[in-house]
Amino acid sequence: MTRLLTWHDEWSLNIDVLDAEHQGLIEHLADICRRFGPEASPRRSGDAFALIDALTDLGEAVREHFKREEELMQAVGYDDIADHRTEHALLMAEYADQLRHWRAEGMNVFGEDAQEDARDWILDHILGADRDFAKAFHEVDDRLTSTVDRYGIAARARLNAVRRGL
Ligand SMILES: [Fe+2]
Repeated sequence: MTRLLTWHDEWSLNIDVLDAEHQGLIEHLADICRRFGPEASPRRSGDAFALIDALTDLGEAVREHFKREEELMQAVGYDDIADHRTEHALLMAEYADQLRHWRAEGMNVFGEDAQEDARDWILDHILGADRDFAKAFHEVDDRLTSTVDRYGIAARARLNAVRRGL
């Protein structure tokens, strides 16, 4: 029986925009598992192209997410942005390798092992370096909040922009 990856509240970074995207990525993967997992394949009789396309789309969604995350890091002046960028690049290279491998073997059912690889890949990101960034983000957020208390409206607009991930 396919074990679908579902969101756990303890994975929250308390940064709304990133939590929503992480939940979206987990749901995206779960959707692929439902559509192409072993339980679905008797009805589908396997479709390698559709499965690889769906997995490629997931990779693109993660790439977009990384981009927005890096923009947010830039906006708050995160010191370790270079390391985090490198980690994103490595994760994307790892996924490209995986996709090549799946394509080469003509995978047409998203089996347990492949699902686990994809699950680990996404969780590596969500439970890894993002937690360090969240810590730094909240320190900046606390500093900005005290600035808002001192300087009022203009600082508040800036704080709200940062919180929205702009
Ligand atoms: Fe992330």
